[in-house]
Amino acid sequence: MSIEIRPAAPDEAASFRRVMGHAFGFDPNEKTLDRFHTLWEPERSRNAYDEEKMVATLGAFSLQLTVPGAVLPAGGTTMVAVLPTHRRQGLLRKMMLSHLEDVAEREEPIAALWASESSIYGRFGFGTASNAIDVKAPTAHAGFHRLAPAPAPVELITSDQARAVLPAIHDKLRPTWPGMYARNEAWWSGRWFLDPKSERDGATSLRYGLASHGDGYVIYRQKERWTAGNPNGEIVVSDLVAETPESWSGLWSFILNHDLAKEVTANLRSSQDPLFSFLAAPRRTTLRPGDGIWVRLQDPVKALAARHYSVEGELVIEAHDPLDGRVHRLLLEAGPEGASCSHTDREPEIVLDLEDLGAVYLGWSRLRTFARAGRLSGDHQALARADAMFSWDPAPWCPEIF
Ligand SMILES: CC(C)(COP(=O)(O)OP(=O)(O)OC[C@H]1O[C@@H](n2cnc3c(N)ncnc32)[C@H](O)[C@@H]1OP(=O)(O)O)[C@@H](O)C(=O)NCCC(=O)NCCS
Repeated sequence: MSIEIRPAAPDEAASFRRVMGHAFGFDPNEKTLDRFHTLWEPERSRNAYDEEKMVATLGAFSLQLTVPGAVLPAGGTTMVAVLPTHRRQGLLRKMMLSHLEDVAEREEPIAALWASESSIYGRFGFGTASNAIDVKAPTAHAGFHRLAPAPAPVELITSDQARAVLPAIHDKLRPTWPGMYARNEAWWSGRWFLDPKSERDGATSLRYGLASHGDGYVIYRQKERWTAGNPNGEIVVSDLVAETPESWSGLWSFILNHDLAKEVTANLRSSQDPLFSFLAAPRRTTLRPGDGIWVRLQDPVKALAARHYSVEGELVIEAHDPLDGRVHRLLLEAGPEGASCSHTDREPEIVLDLEDLGAVYLGWSRLRTFARAGRLSGDHQALARADAMFSWDPAPWCPEIF
């Protein structure tokens, strides 16, 4: 076996998708090939070839990712797939090393990904930087709390109308939520408006609702279902975001009050979604927590200096990169207005794996939680100071898998 790692040529989309289909278990759909071309960045991919035949893929999106107080260029690691004939022979590791070199050359301080399995990426220095909650809410218990604001009315709009207004709403809101990333026109088009039948899972085409103040929207589907003659329908929310409490309340109230729907499914929600404060009986909802995006600090100095921090403070941190054994001993001087970070010879107050620094980077995980689990060392006061500095409101939320 002679393996070469290299970017794909633009005309290799079919081979790329064939490998992905074998690894993930789907048949590539010719109808979505055009969309694939508009989103794929072949020059960023790092794929494995065995005797000139593509046998493994690793793609990357050039993301603009919100981090606390800033928006950063980030390498969005994606479409990682190894043919079953070539698994566990080190191809992922080889592709990942080449991809991260590319991320460094592009001066992207961080890389981010969604993981198919949570046990794969820690060894490459990625930490779970946000969580994502899958919600099932029974409409029979959708009454709102007495303190919930009056819901803003919602207007149903066509997909053409949605194309005209949704991107601006998203662009206004995404810089306020760490974990969200920019959607360019091709992304909106391919991911949110193309809506091929093969991706509807038996539900309707996408519906679009706009909060009357124009500061929030919902994208959803309906599933018609009857059980023993009785309505048992479902509403499946794909995207829902708003700026004001009234618009949040309006959109959730609209979704929860569909006749003939027994249940609302909304995946990848924020743990701080106002829905949980609106419901008078939140205990009636079923929540399944999962990991959201994973972050690796490719350039820890640049990444730590780029974000903002909840409180003023100074820290000396030593982070060990499990990928190449490199040790970064860093002095961080930071606060709500910004930060500076540099290498230092000072004694570290906290020593940790780069994975766990990635996990706290967006403001969700806590170092003291890792310390209690024995994953890192540090004196209690420094850990408390670090947690106060790194934590962020709102908690990071990435509502879309890439
Ligand atoms: C996951 C996948 C990409 C791994 O590729 P691979 O070439 O077999 O991985 P490697 O041989 O380079 O293994 C690298 C390391 O990851 C570990 N690893 C690989 N796959 C793993 C998995 N599914 N779960 C846990 N650990 C895994 C290996 O044991 C190895 O560990 P080591 O460095 O400590 O020895 C491949 O199995 C695959 O395509 N799976 C199906 C699609 C998928 O899940 N893709 C990931 C999308 S996020």
